[in-house]
Amino acid sequence: MQNIAILCSGGDVSGMNPALKHFVEYSLQKKLIPYFIYDGYEGLIDNNIKKASCEDVSSIINRGGTIIGSARSKRFMQKEYRKKAKQNLDSLNINQLIILGGNGSFRGLDIFYKEFGVNFCAIPSTIDNDINGTDYCLGIDTSLNIIKTSIDSIRDTAASFKRAFVIETMGKDCGYLALISAITSGAELCLIPEIKYDLKSYEKNFKNQIRNGKKYFIAIAAEGIHQDSNEIANWFEKQIGIESKVSVLGHIQRGGNPTIYDRLMGYKFITYAIDALLDQRKESVICYTTCGFKYKSINEVVNIPYVLDSKLIDLYYK
Ligand code: F6P
Repeated sequence: MQNIAILCSGGDVSGMNPALKHFVEYSLQKKLIPYFIYDGYEGLIDNNIKKASCEDVSSIINRGGTIIGSARSKRFMQKEYRKKAKQNLDSLNINQLIILGGNGSFRGLDIFYKEFGVNFCAIPSTIDNDINGTDYCLGIDTSLNIIKTSIDSIRDTAASFKRAFVIETMGKDCGYLALISAITSGAELCLIPEIKYDLKSYEKNFKNQIRNGKKYFIAIAAEGIHQDSNEIANWFEKQIGIESKVSVLGHIQRGGNPTIYDRLMGYKFITYAIDALLDQRKESVICYTTCGFKYKSINEVVNIPYVLDSKLIDLYYK
């Protein structure tokens, strides 16, 4: 029987636990011995690797985060630690890895493969949804739903108090979370790093809206824009003449009960990953686009920067 291991790296997402559950169950079904690597690449370096059982994954399907932990490992960027990681895998006779993570984690993996040839299959998992080659990353649906619920709640109080709310979303340098949230919440303003803006250009329109009875504004600001959310709130107060508050959603966007879609996609990604390794695919990333699932090379995925879909941008800005 062959051994297979899985780890989660970088920012955790809701959907990782359902994926881990299916990893154990599908591995056993395929007569593989499943291992968990705890705390991402850190656990790989420290030999925190243990055989996984069905008991380990019972009652986790509804939980956000990851029961095996995650980390952003600085040590894995150094060759001496990657060598140690390889020795640990060898000592357990593991030559097949599944990695759930984002761009940074995939870059480390690419180097690891080139140096030591450990076969892998990578599953895009980040709430930033900023990985080239895939329209969907595991966890994005739950995150968007958490944001939607938060905006809906804020709208209730914004309307009661006649206020403008600047709601800051995560996403690093990518405006995906903010844009989709703005479209689906009918926000009056959406500021993302991909689109240059000048607040002045909104002033006449927003003031007119207030004159015509508009009581509140919802503005979504991506964390990656050049301005602090407080500056935007100040602008609402000084230039538009409406009381304004800032709500930084923060890490609530990373947690919560995984949606049906993220659970299902977690299952599908794992099935594709294990099938790929059994078919002797050595280094691939499973991507999901409107054409369905596709295996792509890690080079294509990590070396080409992600570009936000212009059709989505047009939906809001045109
Ligand atoms: O990459 C996911 C993400 O949540 C980003 O949106 C955010 O910028 C970052 O991680 C926050 O990282 P940390 O949890 O380490 O503070």
